Amino acid sequence: MAAKKSSFDLDQFLATRTEAVNAALDKFLPSEKTKPATIHKAMRYSLFAGGKRMRPAVLLAAAAACGGTEAAAMPLACAVECIHTYSLIHDDLPAMDNDDFRRGKPTNHKVFGDGIAVLAGDALLTQAFEIAAQAKGWPRYSHKDLILEIAQASGSLQLVAGQVADLEGEGKKLSVAELRYIHERKTSALLCCSVRLGGMSANCTPAQLAALTDFGYHVGLAFQVIDDILDVTQTSEQLGKTAGKDVAVQKATYPAIVGLEKSRKIATQLTDKAFAALDIFKGKAVALEALAEFLLKRDK
Ligand code: IPE
Ligand code: IPE
Ligand code: MG
Ligand code: MG
Ligand code: MG
Repeated sequence: MAAKKSSFDLDQFLATRTEAVNAALDKFLPSEKTKPATIHKAMRYSLFAGGKRMRPAVLLAAAAACGGTEAAAMPLACAVECIHTYSLIHDDLPAMDNDDFRRGKPTNHKVFGDGIAVLAGDALLTQAFEIAAQAKGWPRYSHKDLILEIAQASGSLQLVAGQVADLEGEGKKLSVAELRYIHERKTSALLCCSVRLGGMSANCTPAQLAALTDFGYHVGLAFQVIDDILDVTQTSEQLGKTAGKDVAVQKATYPAIVGLEKSRKIATQLTDKAFAALDIFKGKAVALEALAEFLLKRDK
């Protein structure tokens, strides 16, 4: 399936939310001129290079599904984008995936050097917590719960664990279960955390949070399967990052392990599971539904 008919205007949703997130990030971050200027230039270079802003988008969409406000969700939306951007800067370093292009531009270390790129990643990770600290707690979700949510998704049991296993998996023939372990952590954890934070920023009910978790987990897994597929099927120009790299360095990916056709089927099945998780919202999660479909069909 994985095709839903809805009159929801996703283009408009993405355009307005991206603009709002960019304006908020601009306010939260020190200006380019703030000393030491090099680090603030480097942080802003990657943050404003033109990412798709999908983690903020799912966070704001989840908040909307639960009747929350954009104002309450915005610091959390900015925080997850800072974490994501830090993870990309470090992912691209010569010591990791060694990539020269990201978001259609030379990678952070290509412009600023390896040392500053490491520090720009460190600073964005720290900045995320400074921004998240400005979010409000709620009766059901304390301020501490929100901070813990981000720390756990980003730490050595989740995002970092996935990156470790990804590096250690290079050149090896992994099982589908081992690959799933990597994807759950390196990608799904932060996407799922983003969806959950949106709900938490709206003081959602425990049943809503469970549904959002189910949705975020499956959308997050589908996201990385599609990322693996696009690496094989798209051009570098289209992706804004070097295509074909996964095969070149023998990364463990879905296309490498099960082939392209089966990979597409798996991404569709995961997206269908994500759709099913939204049933309890009874049509109020249109933005989330549209985003899941968009993420499955994306071409970059
Ligand atoms: C790329 O994420 C890294 C993965 C987790 C697959 P995105 O595809 O969301 O990258 P941007 O933010 O649009 O640059
Ligand atoms: C990146 O996965 C995941 C994180 C940065 C946490 P990939 O290495 O597949 O992402 P791309 O293809 O470089 O964007
Ligand atoms: Mg990587
Ligand atoms: Mg990479
Ligand atoms: Mg990739």
